[in-house]
Amino acid sequence: MAELALRGGTPVRPQGYPEWPAHDERDVEAVAAAVRGGRWGGFPEPGPLAGEFAARFAAYQGSRHGVVMSNGTVTMEVALKALGIGWGDEVIVPALTFAATPYAAMAAGALPVFCDVDPDTLTIDPARVEAAVTPRTRAVMPVHLGHQMADMDRLTEVARRHSLALVEDCAHAHGQRWRDRGAGCFGEFGSFSHQSSKTLTAGEGGSLLTDDEQLARRAHSLIDCGRPKDPDEKDHTFGSNYRLGELHAALLLVALERFPGQQAERAAAGRRFQELARGIPGVRLLPPDPRISRWSFYRYVLLVEPEAFAGAGNLAVCEALEAEGVGAWEGYPPMSRYDLFQPALSRLPVAVEHADRLDPAAMSFPVAERVGLRQGVYLDENVFRAGERGVTDAVEALAKVQRHAHELAAD
Ligand SMILES: Cc1ncc(COP(=O)(O)O)c(C=O)c1O
Repeated sequence: MAELALRGGTPVRPQGYPEWPAHDERDVEAVAAAVRGGRWGGFPEPGPLAGEFAARFAAYQGSRHGVVMSNGTVTMEVALKALGIGWGDEVIVPALTFAATPYAAMAAGALPVFCDVDPDTLTIDPARVEAAVTPRTRAVMPVHLGHQMADMDRLTEVARRHSLALVEDCAHAHGQRWRDRGAGCFGEFGSFSHQSSKTLTAGEGGSLLTDDEQLARRAHSLIDCGRPKDPDEKDHTFGSNYRLGELHAALLLVALERFPGQQAERAAAGRRFQELARGIPGVRLLPPDPRISRWSFYRYVLLVEPEAFAGAGNLAVCEALEAEGVGAWEGYPPMSRYDLFQPALSRLPVAVEHADRLDPAAMSFPVAERVGLRQGVYLDENVFRAGERGVTDAVEALAKVQRHAHELAAD
């Protein structure tokens, strides 16, 4: 008889984990108050609730200015445009991230140049960044993936040495701190997503943080159809409408109140998980970089060794974990697998000019490819919001899937 729930066995955790987004009457009341108040939209930009959230979230991360907008993709596009980055420029991004990061560079008109990631943190490898710099490079966009942060010591140094702008993609890193400095506060801009799965969410939304008042003004203008934001400016500039509505901002304000408690709970549970899961054969944990001084993660990413799982890769392991009641996802494919970023397959005009930089034959990212296609397992955040039992069940499910991995090969 099969043991794995995927094959008809009894699941380790049939009751599943707490729902996300977490919500209660406070959210309902906040939205109701915004509805009754009659100020629903984001114009004039920013709306009062959007402005209040932006200021509070910027202060929480440790930045001087926050600009709230409709999602965490346009945040990055706006950041690059505010920096004057566009046609003919190159922007370095990791080969393991969500498509939004390189897409944002393309939306600004620039060419994304991919670098492989570090095998211990799965974040962009600073040595490869440095090797990828050309006279056309204008910015580097590290992504703080899963439960890690990119090496901000080395990346700030590389950016300084080559006069590159630093735009952090912090979609996974609300609340994270590196040597006691908040994610998103290291370079020109920090970008955050408030999309449904993110740990600070209103369903949709994005925040851009910066210490530079002029850049903040430009960002406000870019998301508000180019309206001038500087008292000395009279004319519109080039911009679009990426404003966030007030109902979303109302939800974000409540979410921010809840956030520190959830962060602390996840961090404690994450540490416990690492203690307990350490001995499972074929499971490689990637402890958070010791320079992360407040651990505030989105999903916990571990690696499986297919040899220890009867040849099964991350996709099959995630399906088996899901069947056991533990939310798990195989993560992003490496950027070399996206047709979009290959000139022969996409119709990127810019690629013709820089074809050598996007040549599929030259695209080899061994770490991102191995992690993305074979090894990466991203455990859902709610696994770490369900007390001691939530953690022990997840560890048991992982150990069980490994013990009975031969059943996975039965397809
Ligand atoms: C790493 C990363 N960057 C950017 C984004 C884009 O955020 P959004 O969905 O708010 O546009 C996401 C998530 O969706 C993400 O995971």
